[in-house]
Amino acid sequence: MLMKNKSNIILIGFMGSGKTTIGLNLSKTIHYHFIDSDLEIENEIGMSISDYFIKYGENRFRALEKRIIKKLALGFRQVIATGGGIVKNHENIKCLKSSGILIYFNASPKHIYSNLKEDSTRPLLNVDDKYNKIKHLLNERKVLYEKYSDITVDVDGKTIEEITSFIINSLEVGQ
Ligand code: S3P
Repeated sequence: MLMKNKSNIILIGFMGSGKTTIGLNLSKTIHYHFIDSDLEIENEIGMSISDYFIKYGENRFRALEKRIIKKLALGFRQVIATGGGIVKNHENIKCLKSSGILIYFNASPKHIYSNLKEDSTRPLLNVDDKYNKIKHLLNERKVLYEKYSDITVDVDGKTIEEITSFIINSLEVGQ
């Protein structure tokens, strides 16, 4: 489906936009290996990302994230669901771009909020006004997601199957 040196499918976008759920479904459908970069990080540090943020802060988390992204980009035929903050570091993008196609999960603040309103595993969203924090952070990052992605998929109101098919069709058309 994809050239060997660019064989990964890399999902980028805000927290709660469905990268992990869709990534898993997509990987099963096209028989690719599924990787969640947050999970890789948690396996390596032996604690949750939330606890790591509390203990060591965001900067150390970003350094760790950069190291893991570098490692993951070396693999082939993987669907990689990335953490929402990877676009903050241009080295991450350079590395991922050389290893695959970047797909942006475009979700509205409302959609994200409805997915995350009961969630407490995203340290950056553990604030009183979660909706406003989502709006503000998304506004800051949207331009980066748009700039770095090869394909955009609008996820609001779509089923897992619809999003998966859209991605597969876009990849096939693009080859
Ligand atoms: C973050 C997103 C999270 C996780 C961490 C920071 C961010 O990943 O990496 O909490 O800065 O947007 P998900 O996008 O998988 O929730």
